[in-house]
Amino acid sequence: MHKDLKEVLLTEEQIRGRVCELGKAITKDYAGKTILMCCILKGAVTFYADLARTIRGPVLFDFMSCSSYGASSTSSGQVHIRKDLDNDVRNKDVLIVEDIIDTGVTLSMLLPLLKERGARSVKLATLLSKPARRQVEVPVDYNGFEIPDAFVVGYGLDYAGQYRNLPYIGVLREDVYEK
Ligand code: PRP
Ligand code: MN
Ligand code: MG
Repeated sequence: MHKDLKEVLLTEEQIRGRVCELGKAITKDYAGKTILMCCILKGAVTFYADLARTIRGPVLFDFMSCSSYGASSTSSGQVHIRKDLDNDVRNKDVLIVEDIIDTGVTLSMLLPLLKERGARSVKLATLLSKPARRQVEVPVDYNGFEIPDAFVVGYGLDYAGQYRNLPYIGVLREDVYEK
């Protein structure tokens, strides 16, 4: 385990197993359709790459960069689009892929935006959800794990840009972000 962590919350095996289950459900639900998979950079990258490989059937890749956190450990309540999708989403079946839904602020802005642009359907897949922190309700179609209100990093999730490459998800020690 990384020295800055106090515990491992989800092991590689647990994540792999759950991602596989989500991929099977998505494959079934989207049978006969092409999925426009939208990765919300940067946190969702790892989950996105693993999830995509568990889905059978046609998938298009696209990427969007939004931010609500910046370098701090709590949400600022504001969302900025840094990089937009390359695809026109009109008449497409869009699957937004996130690593975590925390306050829900990011998604509460993205979902209506993509619907407004004329997507045929917009669904949301997230690896993690922290219901205790929700400020805005967002409909989650595929949820990997509900987790407690702890500061988690790894498997794409960062603190100040660090720890994204850890292959598992761990809880950061308080002294790391409180100093
Ligand atoms: C995190 C996370 C989600 C969002 C969730 O991204 O990856 O995208 O915040 O928070 P919310 O539900 O409170 O809106 P962040 O802004 O830290 O950017 P990153 O993915 O580049 O780390
Ligand atoms: Mn993110
Ligand atoms: Mg982040």
